[in-house]
Amino acid sequence: MLKRARFCQSLALALLSTSLWADDDFFQPGEVWRDVEGNPIQAHGGGILSHSNVFYWHGEDRTPGGTGVVSCYSSTNLYHWKREGAALSRENLPRHNGRRTFVERPKVIFNPQTKKFVMWTHLEAGRYTYARAGIATSDTPAGPFTFLHAIRPITKDFNFEADAATQQKEFGGTFRDMNLFVDDDGRAYAFYSSEDNWTMYIVRLNSEFTGPEEPAIEGKTWSRNFVRQMREAPAPYKHNGRYYVITSGCTGWKPNEAGYGVADNILGPWQSNANPCIGPNAKTTFDSQSTFVLPVPGKADQFIYMGDRWKPDNLSDSRYVWLPLTMKSDGSPVIEWKDRWTLSQ
Ligand code: GAL
Repeated sequence: MLKRARFCQSLALALLSTSLWADDDFFQPGEVWRDVEGNPIQAHGGGILSHSNVFYWHGEDRTPGGTGVVSCYSSTNLYHWKREGAALSRENLPRHNGRRTFVERPKVIFNPQTKKFVMWTHLEAGRYTYARAGIATSDTPAGPFTFLHAIRPITKDFNFEADAATQQKEFGGTFRDMNLFVDDDGRAYAFYSSEDNWTMYIVRLNSEFTGPEEPAIEGKTWSRNFVRQMREAPAPYKHNGRYYVITSGCTGWKPNEAGYGVADNILGPWQSNANPCIGPNAKTTFDSQSTFVLPVPGKADQFIYMGDRWKPDNLSDSRYVWLPLTMKSDGSPVIEWKDRWTLSQ
């Protein structure tokens, strides 16, 4: 009898430990993803900062009525995330024409010289005509971040239309969908859809990472890429010494077909390539839009494609689509759908 009770006890313990630890270490793209407290993760259009062996996920907090606009979550295994709180709060954001601005697609990098964490966002007002980079800094990865300034990094006038709502003639190319990338030599770059989303700018940042390197010289410190191709949602990464960027087309919240660019130099020239997604629903990037590509620690050819499945009528319920991105031996990326997957697959 005692033996049987012991057996049942150890069986129960074994079951408990598998369900608590091993069995829930997986990604389930498109499903509600809860933090360790059981609340749905609010980190849309986000990116991952890896710092001191901890992953920090910053993203848009779309909680209705919420006071935090950028959230921060932390994890050591990428499956289970703890909410660290609001990294940037609404009251910190500047006003434009009397109205509070809002942020999209926040990304955070660390500057080893200043020891500051630097956040870049797409800062907007009204009907997406403000189109500035909103930059904030903090001493800690989770914040709170302090808003620094709103800028158009490149002010050059490419014969822009006069009197347009976006004011490109006066202030330079618009700044919308964006990302940051820190190269192996420690220099950082902003990738963003500019010229009203027609052309993508890649701009080297100053030594503090708080603005463009100055003086800005086209072809030397910044470049125009995918000219008139209308690419959005840039997610850059590096593999075997070459630069890659996954992008989406430009159809608002509606998903479309991804594409990718590849270059030997980060400022280009960039070659445009077709969709890296294969299989059913590849044409809509599996109903998602790129936001970040994360190298899988310890695996040279494996990355995580991070995308958003937007729900425009209820943005806070937008889902995360994280999928394996594999680099083939010919140097091209492949993204395939998985209902459920783990990093050890
Ligand atoms: C998308 C963009 C999103 C958001 C949306 C608004 O194209 O990627 O970040 O700005 O448009 O319609």
